Amino acid sequence: MKHIELRDLDVSRIGLGAMGMSHGYTGAGVDDAESVRTIHRAVELGVTFIDTAEVYGPYVNEELVGRALKGRRDQVVLATKFGLISHTGRSGPTDSSPENVRAAAEGSLKRLGTDHIDLYYQHRVDAGTPIEDTVGCLAELVAEGKIRHIGLSEAGPDTIRRAHAVHPVTAVQSEYSLFTRDPEARVLPVLRELNIGFVPFSPLGRGFLTGAIRSTDQFDSTDFRADNPRFTEGNFQHNLRLADQVADVAVQIGVTPAQVALAWLLAQGDDIAPIPGTRRVARVEENTAADAVRLTDEQLARLSSLPPAAGDTHTEAQMRVMER
Ligand SMILES: NC(=O)c1ccc[n+]([C@@H]2O[C@H](COP(=O)([O-])OP(=O)(O)OC[C@H]3O[C@@H](n4cnc5c(N)ncnc54)[C@H](OP(=O)(O)O)[C@@H]3O)[C@@H](O)[C@H]2O)c1
Repeated sequence: MKHIELRDLDVSRIGLGAMGMSHGYTGAGVDDAESVRTIHRAVELGVTFIDTAEVYGPYVNEELVGRALKGRRDQVVLATKFGLISHTGRSGPTDSSPENVRAAAEGSLKRLGTDHIDLYYQHRVDAGTPIEDTVGCLAELVAEGKIRHIGLSEAGPDTIRRAHAVHPVTAVQSEYSLFTRDPEARVLPVLRELNIGFVPFSPLGRGFLTGAIRSTDQFDSTDFRADNPRFTEGNFQHNLRLADQVADVAVQIGVTPAQVALAWLLAQGDDIAPIPGTRRVARVEENTAADAVRLTDEQLARLSSLPPAAGDTHTEAQMRVMER
């Protein structure tokens, strides 16, 4: 597995997102043993970048990752996120007050069974706390050795610059895939100017780009996608046609659509480390093997010229806490 640098943090260029093992998707939490095996298999295959968050579950995904990494902690870069749960009694969707950051970090360290978090992201920008205050607190946690690197998620260019002026930001994590090209216009140029790495989340379009999702009937009521605009009627049909184009390229090369979607992302730069999510051993093997898939210039051009997916990436309420 090839490695890249997110600023000065070495990671395998394909990571593993653990969210769906416990949260958000149909089947989350039904087979923790298979989820643990999936993490172990990822590490065996050379994946050194594991992604979780306090809010996944909440809490149980960090516990699961902590259990799975017992005895393997030193082999991985462990990333988690704070700021979507308030421990200070504040209401509203976000809390990145210094008091909350400290409380969240202590909880995550305990659940993950570790004395340090390698990459600690603010999960969403908090309109109620100046980013300078949040990053000032994170810088203290770095000085205390509790976290090693600072990250932001779904932050816009202005927030990224302000944060980076207080303490170097190692990586920004935002949705990016053949379905969601938004970071290309404003965020990626700033990251490259400041030498900050980029971590695309939902690199498989939340499963859509793999060709495995053909109907919304596949989702149970706990599934985040059931009311996600991308997956609602009309948009769903349009987006199926995009997934079919990805599958077409996959057939040409003799690989899977998921591998094509990941190979396209990997071709976008050596400062990019996607974190495809799966809770199944067979799929982590498939996704990790995308490291070896090379797309021709013609295939890359064809994929890059696909129209954007129809529908917002999140519901209206969720979009309000995302910067673009
Ligand atoms: N910062 C943020 O706000 C944020 C938001 C969302 C996600 N994330 C992070 O990003 C990670 C990845 O994103 P994601 O899980 O939302 O979306 P994703 O990686 O685009 O897609 C995951 C979905 O695709 C399915 N899948 C995975 N590999 C497959 C394959 N080879 N063939 C068919 N289906 C496949 C998974 O199902 P199975 O599990 O059943 O295989 C799951 O339903 C998350 O785990 C999380 O760590 C961060």
